[in-house]
Amino acid sequence: MDRRTFVKTVIAGSALSAAPALPALAGPGTLRIGLITPPSHQWSKSAEALAARLAEASGGRIALSVHAAGQLGSEAQMLQQLQAGALDMAFLTLGELSNRNAQFGALTAPYLVRDMGQARRLLAGATAQELLAKAGRLGLVGLGFGMAGMRQVLLREPAPAGEALQGRKIRTVPLAQELDFWRRVGAAPTPLPLPALYDALANGQIDGMQIDFEGTWNSRYFEHASEMLASDHMIFPMIAVGSGRRWATLSHEDRALIDGAVAETLEELRATYEEIDAIYRAKIEEAGFPVRSVDRSYFGGAVDAWYSEWRVMTPVLERLEAEAAEL
Ligand code: BEZ
Repeated sequence: MDRRTFVKTVIAGSALSAAPALPALAGPGTLRIGLITPPSHQWSKSAEALAARLAEASGGRIALSVHAAGQLGSEAQMLQQLQAGALDMAFLTLGELSNRNAQFGALTAPYLVRDMGQARRLLAGATAQELLAKAGRLGLVGLGFGMAGMRQVLLREPAPAGEALQGRKIRTVPLAQELDFWRRVGAAPTPLPLPALYDALANGQIDGMQIDFEGTWNSRYFEHASEMLASDHMIFPMIAVGSGRRWATLSHEDRALIDGAVAETLEELRATYEEIDAIYRAKIEEAGFPVRSVDRSYFGGAVDAWYSEWRVMTPVLERLEAEAAEL
């Protein structure tokens, strides 16, 4: 099978175990990075910044072509391509990884951190690095964590108290910990990918969504809602990964160069997010849309009950809590 046929077969979904070894390339040439966010999103802007940084650091030898807005498929499809060596890099949410190794989902624990600054430090900390190494088992190279804004709740109809969320269809990402949190709140968690959100909210398929201020403003979701709960209840991590199979074909020097460029880009991205939430919250409020701050008590006993279960299911959670408490 030649390389092109191989790549086509993999994209069409052939079994990983049947994939032949990839031919080594002379040099990295043009690498591709995939992500689901639209070009206006900070993750996409950071991927472009990474491309510029790599071009400069390699004297133009390494080009990175950015495929945003799910051009290469869903995260599930991109993960398959990464594992097969048909895609070089991706910025991913934790949905797919957590469903293969639940320890990753511990980073989305409700009220694990009090603010973005603490989230930023936790994602660069020792326990997060330990989690990053677990990407190897999935055929990936964990390059670092980024994040999006803290999770908030956008509602079609207001919910003055947490009990009012009972039975409401709240959009989540397909990640066991998030689904479990919303079940404990009494809502009906409804997993939907980012590109489906606008229509789902507009046509009433969902009653609300777990989302951030940035997406709410840029994608105009608030046009079909009546209240936003500024709950800051979860970090929304991003993981930057490389394909293990492609990394095996790169020289030590190129790997180090890419590692360095990704680390700088992610550090910048994490720092940027300390401001992004405030900027986009202000835009939404200035547009006259009601934003109401709520804290952990709004969700009643759901948060404590969630921790009782997930501390047992994912032992890394207690280490994350201990580390966060020191930050
Ligand atoms: C989301 O699915 O809510 C999401 C995905 C990527 C970046 C930000 C949000």
